[in-house]
Amino acid sequence: MPSASRVQYELARIQTFFPALTALGNSLAAERPFDGLTVGLNMHLTTLTATLVRELVLGGGRFVVAAANPATTDGGVVEYLRDIGVEVHPGTGRSDAQTPVVAASPDLVGDVGFALGDAMIAAGIRPRHGLVEITGTGVARMRAQAAHGALDFPVLNINDGRLKKAIENRHGVGEGLWSAFTTLTGQHLAGRRVRVIGYGRVGAGVAGYAKSGGAVVEVVDRDPVRRLIARFDGHVPVAPDAATNPQVVVTASGARNALSLADIGRLPEDTVLINAGHNADEIDVTGLADEATEVDHIGPRVVRYRHPKGGHVVVLGGGSPLNIVMNAGSNEPVLLHFTLLALGMRWLLAEPRPNGEVRLPPSLEQDVARLWLPT
Ligand SMILES: NC(=O)c1ccc[n+]([C@@H]2O[C@H](COP(=O)([O-])OP(=O)(O)OC[C@H]3O[C@@H](n4cnc5c(N)ncnc54)[C@H](O)[C@@H]3O)[C@@H](O)[C@H]2O)c1
Repeated sequence: MPSASRVQYELARIQTFFPALTALGNSLAAERPFDGLTVGLNMHLTTLTATLVRELVLGGGRFVVAAANPATTDGGVVEYLRDIGVEVHPGTGRSDAQTPVVAASPDLVGDVGFALGDAMIAAGIRPRHGLVEITGTGVARMRAQAAHGALDFPVLNINDGRLKKAIENRHGVGEGLWSAFTTLTGQHLAGRRVRVIGYGRVGAGVAGYAKSGGAVVEVVDRDPVRRLIARFDGHVPVAPDAATNPQVVVTASGARNALSLADIGRLPEDTVLINAGHNADEIDVTGLADEATEVDHIGPRVVRYRHPKGGHVVVLGGGSPLNIVMNAGSNEPVLLHFTLLALGMRWLLAEPRPNGEVRLPPSLEQDVARLWLPT
């Protein structure tokens, strides 16, 4: 199927099963809140993002979009967005995609990972109406800028609201990641030994869905409180340096090299490595690729490496967040927080907001919940 019609099918399906998106588009079309503005977006260019952007453009304005990560960019989506008049910059590396969006001096920004926020601050350009940040990683980066006194525009933090962590981080990633695992490996979870590194909402969802699929789950977290919570959730807490024999390891920590090259060298033969965190550096895939004595591409997005110490491991999705790379799992949690992003952008425009981190007003989440509840 040609990629453009594949995307059209996806959009038609999403429009049918998720009428909240259409309701959002209708209200934006009636209000035209973006008229006269340049809106910059930095997003994973998946078909889900295409459905969001299609509704956003009904609200007027010029849209300039960067790909958050080349590994999660769907070429058909780039084509589709250009067809509907959106400027899209897929880039070849992370910074390449954001540079032209910064050059467009957006008045309002929607960001994942605060990549556009950081790039705008570095260029001395400010989004005058502010920025909406979706991810935990982005919130951490935004706070680092605030600590240096560089945050002189409002940033609406939707990551720390009630909805995103409870639904998208936990249920969306948990479900999507394991469906991608099964698609790529053909393996069933039942009876498998799974290690999850990082027990925040994402890790808890990944662990919980693995357990419900029949896996035996051990949890590593540098915070003993999180390990204790993991035990009460029915998992086996283990210390970070404990020698166990997992068959699958998932990183969900937000930390660079949470699974280092040395850690990888201690894993059993053919352990499957998956990342669920925002960045592609939680597993040291770069170090592994540099040091490996053999590299075999054994399937789409499935690479088997021979570690310099002799054993093999298999990396899925190149160490980028697997559920996103595979656009996997049910769409609903992602689309739900996309509507929160859209309402957040409209809210920033309604009146001037204070500079710095802005907490999500409860009324916005209540509006989103009403949009998504059937009655
Ligand atoms: N894949 C996706 O679709 C998706 C969706 C939402 C969030 N994310 C990303 O997932 C990551 C986790 O998100 P969260 O909301 O659960 O974050 P969180 O901060 O609530 O939890 C992270 C946990 O990891 C632990 N940790 C940190 N460094 C560690 C290390 N080196 N070793 C062991 N444990 C460590 C922390 O103590 C914490 O308990 C972030 O990068 C976030 O941006 C991904």
